[in-house]
Amino acid sequence: MAYIVDLRSDTVTKPTEAMKHAMVNSALGDDVYGEDPTINALESKLASMLGKQAALFVPSGTMANLIAIMVHCNKRGSEAFVGNLSHIYKYEQGGAAHVAGVLLSTLTNNPDGTFDLQELESRFRGTDVHEPISSLVAVENTHNCCGGKKPPPKKLKDHDPITSLVAVENTHNCCGGKALPLKFLDDLSAICKRHNVPLHMDGARLFNACEYLKEDPSRVVRDCDSISVCFSKGLSAPVGSGLVGSYHFIEQARRMRKLLGGGMRQAGVLAAAAIVALDEVVPLLRLDHKRANIMSKVIEGLFLKSFKVDVEGQHSNIILVRIPESSPLTAQKVVARLAQVCLAETQGDCKTPNDEGVIVKAIYFNSKTVRFTLHREISDEDLWLAIMKITYVFKELDATA
Ligand SMILES: Cc1ncc(COP(=O)(O)O)c(C=O)c1O
Repeated sequence: MAYIVDLRSDTVTKPTEAMKHAMVNSALGDDVYGEDPTINALESKLASMLGKQAALFVPSGTMANLIAIMVHCNKRGSEAFVGNLSHIYKYEQGGAAHVAGVLLSTLTNNPDGTFDLQELESRFRGTDVHEPISSLVAVENTHNCCGGKKPPPKKLKDHDPITSLVAVENTHNCCGGKALPLKFLDDLSAICKRHNVPLHMDGARLFNACEYLKEDPSRVVRDCDSISVCFSKGLSAPVGSGLVGSYHFIEQARRMRKLLGGGMRQAGVLAAAAIVALDEVVPLLRLDHKRANIMSKVIEGLFLKSFKVDVEGQHSNIILVRIPESSPLTAQKVVARLAQVCLAETQGDCKTPNDEGVIVKAIYFNSKTVRFTLHREISDEDLWLAIMKITYVFKELDATA
């Protein structure tokens, strides 16, 4: 038997005892009729925490993002800008195209989760999404092909997609849990407002961003027209996300949720856990950040040629370990080795006080990036066991690379 420290994702967290208690004792009703008191309580709580008018409880983060896209891009063939490393673009089954008929156009994510705002502005199609297509004008910035001169405004053709949404991710998963700088969000929202294009935030880990920035959620999402928030990641609830925005937005989102089959009945049993998550688990996120910080500092302190971490850029609970391109090692091999226990480990010091070997579960983003994610179920003891195992395996692999 081996002791397992599961650092694959913060989604592996199970409900707390307080959540289970709240679930069993929750007041219930038919939410499709708007009659579930626990869901209503969760929705108004979340809306007020984010400083918005209304919220909607939905089964998943993927559905929350898709509904946001469907409401904002209500004309098929319209365009939404997202980062090329965003969850919406990489991991949501192309739902925007598949279900909503929306073109996702990508902007290259910088390592901090931002993207180039000048490029975004130069690529907007249509100055006002509310204008009828034939009267739309696309203003381009100075253009290479035009010798740097600003070309005259051009009429959008009938077949040009209309830019109808920009979406950001905060914290940014593939960029290592980075919290977007407020300055970036402020500048981005100014551009979106200028072009009358709504801004959505995939805030699956919004409260991690707020913890890092030491800002109130209402400030971080101040200029967003819609926000999705996950209760089932680091917040440990079993199921569910919240979609937040104006009354008008949520009214339409409710219809889209029904369309997607996400209208739930006595789902207050789930919302009850989400309320506990907001009250009791959000304040604990700082511990995950602290432990992630310790782990990344230890990995950096090993000074190994094959494994690099960005301690400065360690904002939240996600640690990315990069393997240099020149190394023969692959992230798959590292993840597989961490999941094994060899005899020498248990005969030496790499074991629990009960003489059990240690398995660390991790995932790889690509062949050169391993991800570790800290979460509520990782205690200080687990942290040190994981650090011991990672140190052992990284040194072993580094010596052979
Ligand atoms: C940033 C981000 N957005 C959205 C999602 C989708 O959430 P769900 O798995 O609930 O559909 C995830 C899931 O890991 C995520 O990391």
